[in-house]
Amino acid sequence: MEERILSGEAGDQDLSFEQSLRPQNLKQYIGQEKVKANLEVFIEAARQRQETLDHVLLYGPPGLGKTTLAAIIANEMGVNLRTTSGPAIERPGDLAAILTALEPGDVLFIDEIHRLPRSIEEVLYPAMEDFCLDIVIGKGPSARSVRLDLPPFTLIGATTRAGSLSAPLRDRFGVLSRLEYYGKGHLREIISRTAILLETEISIKAAEEIARRSRGTPRIANRLLKRVRDFAQVRANGVIDEHLACDALELMQVDRLGLDHIDHKLLKGIIEKFRGGPVGLETIAATIGEESHTIEDVYEPYLLQIGFLQRTPRGRVATADVYRHFHLEVPG
Ligand code: ADE
Repeated sequence: MEERILSGEAGDQDLSFEQSLRPQNLKQYIGQEKVKANLEVFIEAARQRQETLDHVLLYGPPGLGKTTLAAIIANEMGVNLRTTSGPAIERPGDLAAILTALEPGDVLFIDEIHRLPRSIEEVLYPAMEDFCLDIVIGKGPSARSVRLDLPPFTLIGATTRAGSLSAPLRDRFGVLSRLEYYGKGHLREIISRTAILLETEISIKAAEEIARRSRGTPRIANRLLKRVRDFAQVRANGVIDEHLACDALELMQVDRLGLDHIDHKLLKGIIEKFRGGPVGLETIAATIGEESHTIEDVYEPYLLQIGFLQRTPRGRVATADVYRHFHLEVPG
């Protein structure tokens, strides 16, 4: 039970390989310059005052480094990181168990915080505001409320949907940081950094090619790098050059804009079945066999960002750029 809900930070030697690739401090963290610059000040100020950092809400599309940033904040503050997620906390008692096990100064990271049930959010309010917990003991007329003090802590919430958070919860965060898609230059730097950690040789042009196809997302960049590295190892001499990177990415069906077969299915579905739209999200979901919230949280944000999709009151519309990307005639 404990394990599922809460995984404490392991010691260095226990870090999984995946985690060991992640930057450990703000200096190593590439990109998100504004978020970094602000956090640097807030962390330093809290450290100087010997206080806990205010609660932080990190929001933005998946894969941009919210979990990594939470770990970095704990590291920079020199405190433990405790990790859980909205869906893992099913009952108020689950959250109470987590909160009462915190040590002074700890960072509690709640991923997908928008998926916390309302009844549990309410336990969080006094915990965030006054570092205390109101527990009801007993039932019926003999029920009474007991107030428990908690150690001061920093809550870091992460969400792909800031809009789905209730206003009272959102208002209790002192720092709100929005993560943006990464530019190609930063992605290239991240790929080069990871390649060094993987002890893999990669040309700058190859790193640029992978960066171009990574949808502005470090998690995708690092995943593609690892798969391209497999190709380099098995089909070549282990060195990743531009030619090899392009061949490998084509074989993996990642196109020149980083769109994969699901993006293609989604966009071609709108064009071929609905004449480019508008078409409702649920209809798209049914057509391509994906959950509508996966489309909304994972696929759509990037397609909106690059101007391939538009959201209108009557549904999603594929733009002229999509037709051009697929070498189709743009409708009049
Ligand atoms: N690996 C994944 N994201 C990163 C980032 N923002 N900076 C450095 N390495 C990363």
